[in-house]
Amino acid sequence: GFIYQLKGLSNLEDKLKELLNLKNIFVVPGNFDKDEYILSDIGKEASKHILNVIKDNNILGITGGTTMAKVAEEMPKSNSIKDILVLPARGGIGKSLETQSNNIAANIAYKLDGKYKLLHIPDNIGKEALDTLMQFDEIKSLIDSIKKIDVLVFGIGRSDTMAERRNLSKDIIDILEKEGAVSEAFGYYFNINGEIIRESNTVGLNLEDFKSIRNVIGIAAGAQKAEAIIAIAALRNDITLLIDEGAAKEILNKI
Ligand code: F6P
Repeated sequence: GFIYQLKGLSNLEDKLKELLNLKNIFVVPGNFDKDEYILSDIGKEASKHILNVIKDNNILGITGGTTMAKVAEEMPKSNSIKDILVLPARGGIGKSLETQSNNIAANIAYKLDGKYKLLHIPDNIGKEALDTLMQFDEIKSLIDSIKKIDVLVFGIGRSDTMAERRNLSKDIIDILEKEGAVSEAFGYYFNINGEIIRESNTVGLNLEDFKSIRNVIGIAAGAQKAEAIIAIAALRNDITLLIDEGAAKEILNKI
């Protein structure tokens, strides 16, 4: 019954906390790989966590992807917190689904009665062009605000899935695989120990910034993302991890 299921999930959470050395793990029932509606539950749960930690005048950083899109969709309309600023944590990496981070920022800002700013960086831009863009005051001040993010909510993806979604070349895909990349988050590809294998050529949040943000909430669903999640858990032991039961059980199998 229901009580048994709750107990089972909190046992699962406790085991994971110990194995991953993380303080805050929340497991949502179900496996996204078998039931796509689980993503809405993750979105609802993430919304609750955001509303719990966010304060007046905070800067909320977000990333793109289908999981984050659900957070925006499931976020209830609320005006209880004043003057929130929502920002995409990194500039446009890749195509459609990713540039969605701008839409997600706008949607969440609308739901929280706050403001948003957008980071318009073209895809696959060269280093020189990127440096030139960085000279613009508008972009500079946005990057400054990104460095002041109070709460970051980010999606966690598999390295191979993200490399494909971003149309990376066969050469790069091979290197990622050879070097053991399993995870992607906010523009970085990581191996299972959370070591950087590759960084996307864009601007915004970097790993150092990530480590000093007051509140970070990583979200992911599906057993297929088990290794991707393990890698992120290695980055900081005080992040909040919000995953589904499918991913949680598979993590136990992998460790
Ligand atoms: O591209 C943005 C991003 O948040 C990535 O950093 C992450 O790997 C991916 O989306 C997750 O996407 P999805 O939620 O669709 O699996």
